[in-house]
Amino acid sequence: MDRLPFLAALALLAVAPVPSQAQDLERGRLLHENHCRMCHDSIAYKRGDKIAKNYGEVQAQVTRWQTNTGLRWSQEDIDSVTAYIARRYYQYPLPTEAK
Ligand code: HEC
Repeated sequence: MDRLPFLAALALLAVAPVPSQAQDLERGRLLHENHCRMCHDSIAYKRGDKIAKNYGEVQAQVTRWQTNTGLRWSQEDIDSVTAYIARRYYQYPLPTEAK
């Protein structure tokens, strides 16, 4: 199995600038409600040993999970859900409001 393209894509995601218009928190909330919350109501995002330690890593996990669950979201949808859970669960600042 060749994981390099996947890792390269993750690295790109982590540094790609996020256009401010791309995140729609309300849409992110609805998508999360419909596709993710059934598991994530009981599995807290923010455990002591949480996987996603910053906004880029939250985005990588959202990308991974929408792939896992066969959703094929657009980049806008991924950005919206990332923004929503980063705010709501991780309390990480959005790239557009950092510093
Ligand atoms: C079938 C249950 C299930 C569904 C559906 C699901 N997840 Fe998860 N998710 C998990 C489990 C279990 C973990 C922790 C273990 C792991 O990462 O493999 C996790 C981990 C995560 C994490 C990392 C948490 C951390 O520790 O920082 C994120 C972010 C995440 N999921 C986002 C999503 C999003 C977004 C969706 C909807 C597209 C989704 N998940 C759908 C079960 C689920």
